Amino acid sequence: MAVPLKKSDNITLSIRNLSKIFKGRDEKVVALDEVSLDVREGELFTLLGPSGCGKTTTLRCIAGFEKPTSGKIHFLGRDYTAIPPFRRNIGMVFQSYALFPHLSIYENVAYGLKTRKLPHREIEEKVDSILRMVGLEATRHRKSSELSGGQQQRIALARALVYNPQLLLLDEPLSNLDAKLRVYMREEIRRIQKQARVTTIYVTHDQEEALSISDRIAVMHAGRASQVGTPDEIYEDPNSIRVAAFIGQANFLECRVIKQARESLVLTFPSAEKITLKGISNRLWDFPHPEGVLFVRPNHMEIFPRPGKANTLRGKVKFILYLGSVVRHFIEVFQGRAPQEVLVDTDRRIKGVYEGEEVALGFHADDIRLFPPDQKDQLQKE
Ligand SMILES: Nc1ncnc2c1ncn2[C@@H]1O[C@H](COP(=O)(O)OP(=O)(O)OP(=O)(O)O)[C@@H](O)[C@H]1O
Ligand SMILES: [Mg+2]
Repeated sequence: MAVPLKKSDNITLSIRNLSKIFKGRDEKVVALDEVSLDVREGELFTLLGPSGCGKTTTLRCIAGFEKPTSGKIHFLGRDYTAIPPFRRNIGMVFQSYALFPHLSIYENVAYGLKTRKLPHREIEEKVDSILRMVGLEATRHRKSSELSGGQQQRIALARALVYNPQLLLLDEPLSNLDAKLRVYMREEIRRIQKQARVTTIYVTHDQEEALSISDRIAVMHAGRASQVGTPDEIYEDPNSIRVAAFIGQANFLECRVIKQARESLVLTFPSAEKITLKGISNRLWDFPHPEGVLFVRPNHMEIFPRPGKANTLRGKVKFILYLGSVVRHFIEVFQGRAPQEVLVDTDRRIKGVYEGEEVALGFHADDIRLFPPDQKDQLQKE
C-alpha cells in the first residue's frame, strides 16, 4: 500500500475507506471496496484500471452524484460526504462532452455563469480568458457542432474551468478522439491544468496516457486501489504482479531463491540454469520465500549473440520487430514444460542477433523484482 502522505504534503482531497455497493434486484455489485486516497493541491492525479474497476464510481462519489455506502471524503478540510453536488465547487468533464450544439462556443462556455447570474462584464472577461487559455478565442462565435473533436474537447474543458473550480474531474476525456489527437490533447490538458493550477483527478484505462500525463497514479482493480505512486514508481517498482502486468510490457519468470546474502542473490530456473546477481538492493535481501516470480521489463534486459555467457539464460529468437526507436525481440525460453516467450527491447539492432539463432539473456540486480509465489495466479487472470 501507499505510504501515507505527510501533513506538509498539502493534501486537499482525502478519501478514507470509501465503499459503494449497488444493490440490484437479486445481486449486489461491490463497485468500491474500502478505497483510501490522498490527493495533493495542484496535482494531476490519475485513476487507472480496467473497465468496471470503479473509476467512474469514485469520481461520482467525489462530485456528489453518488452516495457512498460507507467511508469519508474530505475536501479542503471539510467533510464533503453530506454536501450536495451544487455546493461542491467541482468542475467535471464527462466522457461525452454534452455541449449545446445550437449555441456558439462563447455561449456554451458562458452558460453556467449566466445561470448563476453573474454581471455581464464579468462573464465576458472570464469566458475570454478561458478561451484564450484553451487556444480557441478565434472560434468564439462558431457553433459547437462545427468544431472538430479535439476543439469540442477543449470547449468542454473550458466550460468546466470557467467557474474556477477547486477540483476538476475528468472522466476518460479523450476516449472519443483518434490516436494522434489523443496524444496532442493529453499534452494540452496537462499544460492547461498546470496553468490553471487546478487539482485534477483524471480517469483513464490507457496506461500510456496515465504515465505521460500524471503527477501520481492510483492503479485500481476490482474496486480497490492496488498501488499509488508516481508514474516511474508504478512502472519501475510495481508492488504486485497485477500492477506490473497492467502497466506496459513485463516478463515474469518462475525461479527458486538458492541464496540471499548481502552481496549476491543466487537464483535457479526450471531450465536448471543458475544466475548470480551482484549488487542487490535492500528489498531483495529479505525475500522470505524459497521460490518466487522474477519480474523484469523488456527494456531492462540484455541480449547477447550466442548462448553460454555466465549468469545468463539461454533463449532462441523467434522474431524481431523493428519499430524505429525500439527493436523488440521475441525470445523463446524453456522454463517449464511449455516454451515461454520473453520480450527484450533494445534501442538499436544488436550485431549477431538474428531470427532463429540462439542467444543469451541477462539482467541486472537493480532492475528485477521478486514477487511471492502466491501471486502466480495473477499471471493467468489478467
Ligand atoms: N448504477 C449502477 N448500478 C449497478 N451497478 C453499477 C452502477 N454503476 C456502476 N455499477 C457497477 O460498478 C462497477 C464499477 O463501475 P464503474 O462505472 O465505476 O467502472 P469504471 O472503472 O468507470 O469502468 P469503465 O472503464 O468501463 O468506465 C461495475 O461493475 C459496474 O457494472
Ligand atoms: Mg467509467
